[in-house]
Amino acid sequence: MKIILLGPPGAGKGTQAEVLSRTYKMLHVSTGDMLRESVKNKTEAGLLAKSFMDKGELVPDNVVTAIVVSRISKPDAKAGFMLDGFPRTVQQAVELEKQLESAKQKIDLVLYFNTAEKTAIERLTGRRVCTKCGLNYHVKNKPPKKMNVCDSCGAGLIQRDDDKLETIKNRLNVYQKQTAPLLSFYKERSTLREVSGDLNVNELFLKLKDLFLNEKLS
Ligand code: AP5
Repeated sequence: MKIILLGPPGAGKGTQAEVLSRTYKMLHVSTGDMLRESVKNKTEAGLLAKSFMDKGELVPDNVVTAIVVSRISKPDAKAGFMLDGFPRTVQQAVELEKQLESAKQKIDLVLYFNTAEKTAIERLTGRRVCTKCGLNYHVKNKPPKKMNVCDSCGAGLIQRDDDKLETIKNRLNVYQKQTAPLLSFYKERSTLREVSGDLNVNELFLKLKDLFLNEKLS
């Protein structure tokens, strides 16, 4: 199955992708994670991406699309994948569709996490991430057992550079202008299904499981 997780920053896409990919043994492809890895490794794409990410702007379509196409062309993506954070513009969606069509494939399902702005801001300002394994925490909703220490690998936790309030506000604006048009794009293709991103992690996971059952994806 080929699935897209769509929704504003802070909707909980990454959190659900992690659980869903474990439960359904699906490949999780996160453009945010791949771009942050490129920034860390100071690759050409990473150095270019950083200037956009720091401001909460989208990285140019050609850069992100090339990274995704290369990842989903690998053998482990043949059985299916879950795209988290891609596509984010109509141009990216069109390019993805073209690439899949040329391999006689298509997107089966687009899960839209409909989330209030207030929820997104509360989640993003409280998010902390592990500097080593990348595991995701929240100061209130998902605190680590020991303050600022990762439960899994023991490394320190930090706040993402783009999780500062001003940058969050810009990311939400960018989402409305450039990503929200994808809702009509996928509605026209009858692949869009909506869930409430305001639910807590377990409630949302159960809704998604039900939806998978109804779509006969499990
Ligand atoms: P990216 O990393 O994709 O960021 P994002 O879309 O802004 O998404 P987030 O990771 O902020 O939110 P999420 O929905 O995954 O929420 P999460 O589960 O982490 O992209 C970063 C940047 O890279 C972009 O700004 C852009 O510059 C660039 N980029 C990436 N893809 C691109 C593309 N395709 N084109 C161009 N540029 C691109 O949860 C957030 C917090 O809430 C966590 O603390 C979590 O613990 C908590 N939480 C999660 N779910 C719940 C819940 N249900 N209840 C309570 N708390 C919850």
